[in-house]
Amino acid sequence: MSEVSKSSSGNGFEPRIVGFFCNWCTYTAADLAGTSRLTYAPNVRVLRVMCSGRLDPQFILDAFRKGADGVLIGGCHPGDCHYQAGNHKALRRYTLLKRLLKTMGIEEERVRLEWISASEGDKVQRVINEMTEDIRRLGPLRLPPIPHAGRMPGEAVERVSSIGQETGL
Ligand code: FES
Repeated sequence: MSEVSKSSSGNGFEPRIVGFFCNWCTYTAADLAGTSRLTYAPNVRVLRVMCSGRLDPQFILDAFRKGADGVLIGGCHPGDCHYQAGNHKALRRYTLLKRLLKTMGIEEERVRLEWISASEGDKVQRVINEMTEDIRRLGPLRLPPIPHAGRMPGEAVERVSSIGQETGL
């Protein structure tokens, strides 16, 4: 992922949000929102993944490290995942990651997981607008200085993995 550049409109803060959208549902819903001419905040940069279960916690930590203020994950509704249980895996990882982010001093509103089917273009609009507002209120993400910045995500992922092993996830 390339470095995300900071942007602002006037003196106001414009959050940069990275969206990891499942190809089969949320990505298609975002497309539908576009073709239906639903307008929503332009703050989300969408990355398509084949399933929300493909999301490695590393991707989210990398997004933050490279300048994102928030990360939005969109997946198929429970029971609708094209790979059976990918979204269940995504939910478990998301829950663990939020715990980890809290210990790092990162507000939990900065990561959001939503189930959005291909027909829910209006939900894409609502979720993006809500999240943009929430993060605008929080302000830019200011990660504390990290002595060995290059190693941070790896260490963090190890912590998520070790929590996962302890809890059997
Ligand atoms: S295929 Fe969409 S979440 Fe798995």
